[in-house]
Amino acid sequence: MNNITLFGQGNMAQAIASRLQKSNQSYTFVSAQDTATTLGEIVILAVPYGAIHSIVEKYKEFLKGKVVVDITNPVNFTTMDGLVVDADSSASQLLAQMLPDSKVVKAFNTNFAGTLASDEAITVLMASDDDQAKATLAQAFTGSGLVMMDAGSLKRSRELEAIGFLQITLAIREQISWTGGFRLVK
Ligand SMILES: NC(=O)c1ccc[n+]([C@@H]2O[C@H](COP(=O)([O-])OP(=O)(O)OC[C@H]3O[C@@H](n4cnc5c(N)ncnc54)[C@H](OP(=O)(O)O)[C@@H]3O)[C@@H](O)[C@H]2O)c1
Repeated sequence: MNNITLFGQGNMAQAIASRLQKSNQSYTFVSAQDTATTLGEIVILAVPYGAIHSIVEKYKEFLKGKVVVDITNPVNFTTMDGLVVDADSSASQLLAQMLPDSKVVKAFNTNFAGTLASDEAITVLMASDDDQAKATLAQAFTGSGLVMMDAGSLKRSRELEAIGFLQITLAIREQISWTGGFRLVK
């Protein structure tokens, strides 16, 4: 059993926690008001992109050696016409630069909270330069009904964030529902 810390208690944190219950994992939530002194081996940042910097500032030392999971879609909410990160970069690559001693994994950003909270057997795409970190994350969700798929190096976060944004666009345009999403067929 892994000890998992979830930053945030919103839609995504609750949906991911519901899957962790299915895989019999223990987890704790950390809110913005908390000052946690110990963090789990896996730390899932289920917070808005804009909150990432302050969490890194506060917890950088505690995040050393941890599997740090970035689930953000850094959408430009002013224009709704792109991401706030450069086209040749990604939120996760920027996070990895801020946390050189952590094992950053991009995951869950291509899954809507409503879809994750269902019982659907859905695919979660992971990107990281650390294969063991991806394996650790996948192992934590064994039995959760999620299919954890290795999408390659952390550079692939750029593509995962593009897919996340496209999926949001489809839902806003009411082409799919907020409990829908892309399905992968092997
Ligand atoms: N919703 C989706 O379907 C979906 C899908 C894929 C990816 N994502 C990504 O997942 C992330 C979370 O989305 P969400 O829909 O779950 O948002 P949400 O429902 O608004 O929840 C965000 C949570 O983050 C907390 N928070 C903010 N700053 C924090 C800090 N410094 N420390 C700890 N907690 C903090 C908020 O607490 P307060 O309420 O107290 O501010 C809230 O509990 C976003 O980056 C989003 O892009 C969302």
